[in-house]
Amino acid sequence: MTLLDGKALATKLKEEIRREAAGLPRRPGLAVVLVGEDPASRVYVTSKRKDCENCGFYSEEYDLLAQTPQSALLELVEGLNERADIDGILVQLPLPGHMDEQAVIQAISPEKDVDGFHPMNAGNLLIGRESFLPCTPAGVMELLDEYHIDPAGKRAVVVGRSNIVGKPMGLLLLRRDATVTLCHSKTPDLPEMCRQADILISAVGRRNLITADMVKEGATVVDVAMNRDESGKLCGDVDFPAVAERAAFLTPVPGGVGPMTRAILMKNTLLAAKKRQNLC
Ligand code: GUN
Repeated sequence: MTLLDGKALATKLKEEIRREAAGLPRRPGLAVVLVGEDPASRVYVTSKRKDCENCGFYSEEYDLLAQTPQSALLELVEGLNERADIDGILVQLPLPGHMDEQAVIQAISPEKDVDGFHPMNAGNLLIGRESFLPCTPAGVMELLDEYHIDPAGKRAVVVGRSNIVGKPMGLLLLRRDATVTLCHSKTPDLPEMCRQADILISAVGRRNLITADMVKEGATVVDVAMNRDESGKLCGDVDFPAVAERAAFLTPVPGGVGPMTRAILMKNTLLAAKKRQNLC
């Protein structure tokens, strides 16, 4: 079994991004907005700030109280849309229950939507036009490419159908000529579906969901989830030691998809900065 080392590839990508960003007339700028005090979201936001520092980007962080009215968040986003020095706007999800996530996402200018969540970018992905790609699925594709795992003609099974991961993941694999199945909580006989997969991607958030009997010998298995075990240690959806005996390629958690997601956010922000400076 070969480990798909997302940490190493992300380090390489960020170094390339840093070099390219240093050559721009104006450095890329990213604004990250966190509403409320979800501890996992706090960790993500802090790591995004560090990534910006490492890549030589300007960054701003906004911490809003959980009870902030949606109108105040929309005003903040509209202000950031107008800022010349801000190329990317990321509003960390999930938002508190009183907010309409779609309304907030739609308020972000599509040109600054480095998450690729705006309906304009999501629609362009659907019809195969250029767009900002959601960071996690785009990171998985770069990881597959790095290890010369070509989806063309393969059976790909994606478990999970979120707008952030499952659906765009399916579209990116389809774009690369895989035969794609999206599975979800109502899929009958998930193990049988998974056993068909040459490329199996799990993005559910349930520890040990993917057991060795669900994996075809020689498959590529990508674990997108970030769960914690009973001792608080990070783990994914895949029963790692058992699946490692059957898979040909497997992502670790941590050190697989997570670092790639972060690297793609930097790549998207660099791209937004270049577009806004008419450099591409
Ligand atoms: N919450 C979990 N993943 C993401 C992501 O990729 N972007 C944003 N904005 N929020 C998230």
